[in-house]
Amino acid sequence: MKALLLAGGLGTRLRPLTENLAKPMALVGNRPWLEHLIVHLKRQGIVDFVIAVKHYPEMIQQYFGDGQKWGVSIEYAVEKTLLGTAGAIKNAEKLLSDRFLVVNADIINQASLVPLLEFHLQHKGAVTIGLTEVEDPSQYGVVQQNYDGEIVRFVEKPDKHHAPSRRINAGIYVMDKEVLDWIPAEKEVSIERETFPLLIEKNVGVYGKLIDGYWMDMGTQQRYRQVHWDLLDRKFPLPLSQKEQGNGIWIGQETSIGQGVLFVPPVLVGDHVQIGERSVIGPYAVIGDRCQLGKNVRCTETIMWHDCKVRDGAQLKNCIFGYSLELGPRHILYEAVMNRMAKGGQA
Ligand code: GTP
Repeated sequence: MKALLLAGGLGTRLRPLTENLAKPMALVGNRPWLEHLIVHLKRQGIVDFVIAVKHYPEMIQQYFGDGQKWGVSIEYAVEKTLLGTAGAIKNAEKLLSDRFLVVNADIINQASLVPLLEFHLQHKGAVTIGLTEVEDPSQYGVVQQNYDGEIVRFVEKPDKHHAPSRRINAGIYVMDKEVLDWIPAEKEVSIERETFPLLIEKNVGVYGKLIDGYWMDMGTQQRYRQVHWDLLDRKFPLPLSQKEQGNGIWIGQETSIGQGVLFVPPVLVGDHVQIGERSVIGPYAVIGDRCQLGKNVRCTETIMWHDCKVRDGAQLKNCIFGYSLELGPRHILYEAVMNRMAKGGQA
């Protein structure tokens, strides 16, 4: 079975990080999320992928190529204009098999596919929507199902106390190709708001099945941070390539740590990182590969992508830095989310 990964959205809510980046390429634990996703799906037996791209498509195509490096085959469905979550599926029609998996590539989850597929074969409907349960459904579209799991309606943003369930669309679907007959070509169409309600109305058979494990939509800065804190707390047990030194401190290879550096767990440090004397890193810090941190830096609740330079005495709290950012000495930053150079002063 092929998997279609939807990776073309603008990621407006995660700006400025997505200003020059496809959202699914945002790093999670120092590796593009899309890569984690492909590796996970491959472990579940999926080797044929189609990636639906639009926003910065070349970045995804250059990184993954034909997928050979990951032992999979990858084809691309490129959109000329933004087609929305259903329009993107329709646009990939020629590349899809009779039954296929669709995954929103910005959803952080490592669900088991077998129960979803088994359920799909059992009910004989056209779609199975993977569902997840949330504490407070009032921010989401909630599903109402009948006794055999068929979805009878979606209730948008219900009041917490009157919601028909706490189950929401998890952004992972098993679909039969007949679904594509219900999506107009070359038009912007939303699967959540338009296609699924239409399929329910037409009685095509839309079913829902709870998926297992951790689930998070990384689409906002706050949730993007939360994914990392959950990763460091191992509430989200994503495999990490760095070595755990014990007590929630992961350090990559060829990292140079100056005298008197204090790691306050949990902390994840990438490969080839340099940290100057007496810096204090953590709690909750993720440092990308090849980053250089000067002396006496304080870095807490901060995520830094690869190749950043932070000079002596800088203090960072609750920040997210994109690639190759440079900070001058003694900068004090709180809740800064940056994706551009911010050079200042000399080290
Ligand atoms: P916001 O602009 O912040 O709402 O983000 P988004 O539109 O990128 O993401 P959203 O959560 O709405 O979409 C869910 C998934 O579908 C993400 O992985 C997006 O990359 C993808 N997606 C959304 N719209 C499109 C589209 O028009 N084409 C393609 N190929 N993928 C899309």
